[in-house]
Amino acid sequence: MAPAAFQEYKTYTQKVKSLQIYPKKKPLVRIGICTDLHQDLIKDGEKRLQSFITEMNQAKPDFIIQMGDFCIPKEKNKNLMEIWNQFTGPKYHVIGNHDTDGGFTHDQVVDFWSAKGKYYSFDTNGYHFVVLNGNERPEGDTSKGYPRSINAAQIKWMKQDLEATSLPTIVFCHQGIDNDQDGLKEGALIRLIFERVNQKAGFHKVQFVFSGHHHEDYHNIYNGTNYVQINSISYQFTHPVKGYDFAHTKEPLWALLTIHTNGTAEIKGRKSEYMGQEASQNDPEYNGYPNVPYISDRVIKV
Ligand SMILES: [Fe+2]
Repeated sequence: MAPAAFQEYKTYTQKVKSLQIYPKKKPLVRIGICTDLHQDLIKDGEKRLQSFITEMNQAKPDFIIQMGDFCIPKEKNKNLMEIWNQFTGPKYHVIGNHDTDGGFTHDQVVDFWSAKGKYYSFDTNGYHFVVLNGNERPEGDTSKGYPRSINAAQIKWMKQDLEATSLPTIVFCHQGIDNDQDGLKEGALIRLIFERVNQKAGFHKVQFVFSGHHHEDYHNIYNGTNYVQINSISYQFTHPVKGYDFAHTKEPLWALLTIHTNGTAEIKGRKSEYMGQEASQNDPEYNGYPNVPYISDRVIKV
């Protein structure tokens, strides 16, 4: 091949490659994700949620989901729900540990949000989605503090639900299933169940697990499953372990997940900076995940 023709061929193949990463074809599925609004702990929750909903009504993903620590089921939060319900497409909820603050029950939260259930699954555009409730208190547990558990009945339901579907699956849980330090206590067991479900299926059926709760920004891969932590729409902590002071971001943070027909998943995250007080850098003795005012952009092959 003559050098000029070879160059032309090289440019052409590069173009084809780039088209494969960002194909012009309609994506399989697009999802708007936000988490940890903490309406009851901050002053500008409605404004932050309104920004998310306004943009989602323009972007028109297949559905939106909030991953917990949204709002307690109290009359004063009806305005917030009206903002949430302005989204014209399907809307899903994950329960967070703060959503029952003040003594509310999970059922009251589900009713107030008009959520599909405490834990449930659904299909959209050839994908299966599983929403878990990581806030169950183990039987006989009298300890104080927030539970971060999934009890045997829910684990059994989840296992049967995952085995029953032949579709690639995305799991949502408020607490990190890959974070054994302060995430879901049954994390190791659930990761093992995902691994066995994948082995039985003969492909990576459980492709993604999304979580919030930790107000951090990271991506881990365990046995081929991608665990992605989505940062809070509102704030990070000024102390990584004990800190109850908040470092608010100037702009609200959220992510748009797009899964293309060629098996490439693209996460586009919003970026901001701190309003006044900075979030602390993580204590090296702690988990070491970054405390940052943004959600990273990621391209992940699935
Ligand atoms: Fe939380």
